[in-house]
Amino acid sequence: MGPIAIPEPSAVADVIATDREFREFATFVHRQTGIALNETKRPLVCARLRKRLRYYGYVRLRQYHNHLTERDPEGDELVRMVNALTTNKTDFFREAHHFTLLRTELVARRTAGDGPRRLRVWSAGCSSGEEAYSIAFTVLAGLPDAADWDVRILASDIDTEMLARAERGVYPADRAASVPATLRERFFRRGRGASAGLVRVGPEAARLVTFRRINLRDESWPIRIAFDAIFCRNVLIYFDRALQQDVVGRLVDYLQPGGCLFLGHSESLLGMGTGLRPVGKTVYRKVPHGARA
Ligand SMILES: C[S@@+](CC[C@H](N)C(=O)[O-])C[C@H]1O[C@@H](n2cnc3c(N)ncnc32)[C@H](O)[C@@H]1O
Repeated sequence: MGPIAIPEPSAVADVIATDREFREFATFVHRQTGIALNETKRPLVCARLRKRLRYYGYVRLRQYHNHLTERDPEGDELVRMVNALTTNKTDFFREAHHFTLLRTELVARRTAGDGPRRLRVWSAGCSSGEEAYSIAFTVLAGLPDAADWDVRILASDIDTEMLARAERGVYPADRAASVPATLRERFFRRGRGASAGLVRVGPEAARLVTFRRINLRDESWPIRIAFDAIFCRNVLIYFDRALQQDVVGRLVDYLQPGGCLFLGHSESLLGMGTGLRPVGKTVYRKVPHGARA
């Protein structure tokens, strides 16, 4: 028998981690955020955390993990770790067909004219805010009498840096290129002088949106209302199947009967048995009480 090979700890982006160190860290991240990190994510994780380790003079993932569990009583570093790890890719009017459907729903409600003039929408996992503002633009454009409606949009994320950016509502002008021209003209203010090349979401849309840090992994969410529509798009893909099912089930609890759940293009609900009926590409309506899915 030859010598027993002891696996070398590998260094990626200057961060040294044995397989075991990485696995234990991934378990910790999963417990905190729901984000599932398998071995293939290791280079990405090390690259994203490199600055955080450097800040403390650590070279091993284990040292940083110990820091988070033993020397971070207020959880400040945990917040920074989460901010560094999340993937925040987003766009205005991403998956534009969802906004077409939202508009159709609004017009139908307005035309029916019998329900309350009250609209509640949640962008869960809003990243830097483009999704929530796209919802606001769609509502304002779809309801010419929006001033007579009580409209609130809750936009939440686990990432505090993204939330701060979202709340500022300032974007490079080219990011707004995916907003239809008429809406762009109506809802953005163009920056001048030092702000040239930037656009800011104007007050008409911004005042509809409230931003909050909500971790979808938490057992309960600090929300006491039910929504007409929930957008939770391109967030569940980071969770494992069990957590996806748990979160979808709880999102459905937060929907009004007849309300719609919008998921990302790769987040199929097949087989989840959640009391939802498909109404579009990855859009599902909560089946009113007593009706069949
Ligand atoms: C890829 S972005 C999607 C943004 C937007 N919904 C869209 O589709 O364009 C995923 C977002 O989910 C957030 N996220 C990840 N885990 C989360 C959790 N446990 N609770 C809340 N938000 C989470 C990330 O911070 C990130 O901003």
